[in-house]
Amino acid sequence: MNIRDKIKDKILDKLIADEGEPVSGEKLAKELSISRSAVWKNIKALRDEGYMIESSTNLGYSLVSSPDTLSSARIKAGLETKLIGKDIEYFKETESTNTIAREIAGSVDEGTVVIAESQTGGRGRLGRKWISPEGGIWFSIILKPKIQPVHAPRITLLAGVAVAKTISTYGLEARIKWPNDVLISGKKVCGILTEIEAEMDLIDYCVVGIGIDANVDTESFPEEIRQNSTSLKKELGHEIARVEFVQKLLSEFESLYLKFQKEGFPPILEEWREMSATIGEWVKITTQSKTVYGEAIGVDNEGALILETGEGRLEKIVAGNCEHLRRGQGA
Ligand code: BTN
Repeated sequence: MNIRDKIKDKILDKLIADEGEPVSGEKLAKELSISRSAVWKNIKALRDEGYMIESSTNLGYSLVSSPDTLSSARIKAGLETKLIGKDIEYFKETESTNTIAREIAGSVDEGTVVIAESQTGGRGRLGRKWISPEGGIWFSIILKPKIQPVHAPRITLLAGVAVAKTISTYGLEARIKWPNDVLISGKKVCGILTEIEAEMDLIDYCVVGIGIDANVDTESFPEEIRQNSTSLKKELGHEIARVEFVQKLLSEFESLYLKFQKEGFPPILEEWREMSATIGEWVKITTQSKTVYGEAIGVDNEGALILETGEGRLEKIVAGNCEHLRRGQGA
């Protein structure tokens, strides 16, 4: 984000904080140490983005209405978290929020969020592309937990629980397909891509990328994805207020993350199990080296899936692609 955008964000922060009351140009200029004409230029830029800002010669500028954007100022207004989302980097369009988050992770605080209206090179698990048009919620959270790299999957499961719990506040039944797809009525509404940078036995940072098909028309997705995808808009029958959704999700994420740091992984795993769509299902797991069929009978303390194969053997799967099948299929 350049200096100009930062000033624009600060002006917006102040207009939002004053809840429609006029703020004088002189006051803005003084508080931000910029000229009156710089204030005016930034107000014009905000209007070009869709903010309705009234101005009166004597009183100053007042915010009348905001566009449905996920700008830092809009998310932060009313956000109750202490850590997650304390700093938010906003992009109208970027290649991938995970890529940006990895680039800046070394120089920002834990909890920093990178969010975009659309991504041109969104990345999914297993090297897949992630379609990220406007209307969705595409963001990454930078975390610096003091855990070993082998325990990173715990963070992914935690993120799945946070998303599923947030969706359920809208009256929808969200379930988690191992390891981290969030489903509504068996169709995918959210994917999570966790990437880490680590030393031998300690994580430097962890980027949790979350993609939610919020107000997206999944009908426009390619055939092979369309069949198994849904959106919040489709399930609810109307668009959602994305800013409010992000605020709720960041709060949920923070309370689970703080619980994880205080009490360890067991309480998170307990919640994951309760929301699991996979336990009890007959599944096909494809890893880099093999394909296994069996009944998913549980998840262990590392987040690995435990399968009972057709021959009655137990297999532990740490990472791979999971498909839910009809019982006995492929065995
Ligand atoms: C998957 O299910 O394959 C994971 C999809 C993860 C998508 C999100 S969108 C925000 C972040 N930026 C990316 O490029 N990917 C993740």
